Amino acid sequence: MTEKREHIKIHETAFVTSTFRAFDESLSQDSFAKLWQNSKTEQWIKEYLDKVSSEETYTHCLRNRYFLDTIKNFIQNQEVEVLINFGSGFSMYPFLLNENLIHIEIDKPEIVDYKKDKIQKWQKENMLPNRNIHFIGVDFSKSYQEKLLSEIESIKGNKSTFILIEGVLFFLTRKETNDLFDFFNTIQKKGDYIGSASFQETIKKTKAFQNLLSFFNQKVSKTSQDDYQTIEDQYYESIHNYKLIDHQDYFSLSKKYKNTINQSKELILNENFYLLKRDK
Ligand SMILES: C[S@@+](CC[C@H](N)C(=O)[O-])C[C@H]1O[C@@H](n2cnc3c(N)ncnc32)[C@H](O)[C@@H]1O
Repeated sequence: MTEKREHIKIHETAFVTSTFRAFDESLSQDSFAKLWQNSKTEQWIKEYLDKVSSEETYTHCLRNRYFLDTIKNFIQNQEVEVLINFGSGFSMYPFLLNENLIHIEIDKPEIVDYKKDKIQKWQKENMLPNRNIHFIGVDFSKSYQEKLLSEIESIKGNKSTFILIEGVLFFLTRKETNDLFDFFNTIQKKGDYIGSASFQETIKKTKAFQNLLSFFNQKVSKTSQDDYQTIEDQYYESIHNYKLIDHQDYFSLSKKYKNTINQSKELILNENFYLLKRDK
């Protein structure tokens, strides 16, 4: 009971995301997400699925599956050599993708430090294969550009990149988001990709979002619907130097991967997934 009443911190959403992926491995294709499971998160998730939306396991599994398959495809076509994951949390792409890929994982310092320790421990115990991963601690609400640019440049050189930003923009302001996309523009070159996940404004009218808000208010901190950023298609359609080449959501991915939808639209937090290619 005491655990139940404890407030969670925003970064603990990273545990939640990974645990959802572990709940349906055949859908997410993430066989390592289960390493992050723990009893506190599981208790939290049980309540979340009950009070917010029971579809959340599958929305998270499909998000992982979409980006995983997309990146795999680019690697196969020799279009991507470095994966840069902004707000990487506890996602496990490095271990699900070809061993030759270089990974740059960026998140708040306490998250990357914790992840690095855990990964090294699991590698020593032969639970995870070795991979080329660089962890960088950054807070997107602070000034990070100059230092991060030189760190990324020294790792990637002139190599082709895929930038992933998923499960993060909801928690950022529009200015922080604009700054990030400007930064992506600085580090990428023609032919590089961005994969981004975000919600649209219409989500705020759903019962599922109202449920989410009251759940967060009770469990995380007092917030209003204006504290959560939504992004329209038009934003992605007008990013300088980039072309929107694919757009999916939970419903289209469910069709693609033959996932049965159990809830009505009202009770689903439908996330949108965008793929951008730098064309200049
Ligand atoms: C819901 S988790 C998603 C993690 C991962 N992208 C995934 O899909 O598994 C959100 C992540 O965004 C990170 N994040 C949120 N705000 C941030 C900020 N201002 N600076 C850096 N990271 C941030 C959190 O620490 C957390 O790891």
